[in-house]
Amino acid sequence: MVKDEELAHPFLLVEGVGHRFASGLEAITGVSLSIGAGAFVALVGSSGVGKSTLLRILAGLLTPSSGRVRLGGRSPRQADHQIGIVFQRYNLMPWRTVADNVRLPLELQGLSRAATRQQVQEMVELVGLAGFEQSYPGQLSGGMAQRVAIARALVHQPALLLLDEPFGALDALTRERMGQELLRIWNARPVTVFLVTHSIPEAVLLADEVLVMAGRPGTITSRVHVPLPRPRHLALQATIEFHECAAQVRAAIEGEGETRGKGAGGRGE
Ligand SMILES: Nc1ncnc2c1ncn2[C@@H]1O[C@H](COP(=O)(O)OP(=O)(O)OP(=O)(O)O)[C@@H](O)[C@H]1O
Ligand SMILES: [Mg+2]
Repeated sequence: MVKDEELAHPFLLVEGVGHRFASGLEAITGVSLSIGAGAFVALVGSSGVGKSTLLRILAGLLTPSSGRVRLGGRSPRQADHQIGIVFQRYNLMPWRTVADNVRLPLELQGLSRAATRQQVQEMVELVGLAGFEQSYPGQLSGGMAQRVAIARALVHQPALLLLDEPFGALDALTRERMGQELLRIWNARPVTVFLVTHSIPEAVLLADEVLVMAGRPGTITSRVHVPLPRPRHLALQATIEFHECAAQVRAAIEGEGETRGKGAGGRGE
């Protein structure tokens, strides 16, 4: 449910953000949005529209040319320990075991192996990889490797989890299963999720709200509230409500509809 204080004090606030690359290309313009703590928000839009650019700005990896981002009142760089990121290519270190890959963010904080053992083990178990702690990335399937990337993004207990097309390289069945896994993890942790995806059904099945980015330069043209009940099992995809919501998002991407929903907030499950 959306709590009033969350909307009054959104956890993630983006105000008039635009970005022009050094090449002169203006990738995004006038992006404004607010997300309540604990919400699950998806961002969809055609290729090249600026989704990854926005995600990198939210992550503090890129400084916007205009506008500002506030995460719990601070800039993303000031709040970087509160952010976890999963990229489409999971960027695991092939020479490190599963446990050592998951441990990396804690190691960068200067914590010892002994001090982090329990935290790492909990994360490995949370993503369903117990028993694979000492395996190497080359010995894992794509879905398993992506679970390691999610565990690594969450191990330092960030308040915001940014995911850029995390399941894009997976087959359709594994992708569906990973979506359900992500919902389970989101339920188990107090974390706000911002998911970039090319898949409309994935966005609708997982999110409280779907943001649509369109135009050149890209901007948020629609916000589609997803009224589907939780928990969101795969069977929901067969319902009329699901299809109506997906059609609404598709129309918004194709520029047929302007749909303005309420700011997403609160944990729905
Ligand atoms: N480092 C860069 N320098 C110059 N232009 C860039 C850079 N990174 C991205 N762009 C351009 O900015 C625009 C938006 O790119 P971005 O990667 O944000 O799109 P996207 O929506 O994530 O696309 P996709 O769905 O294919 O991942 C594109 O035109 C791209 O060519
Ligand atoms: Mg991208």
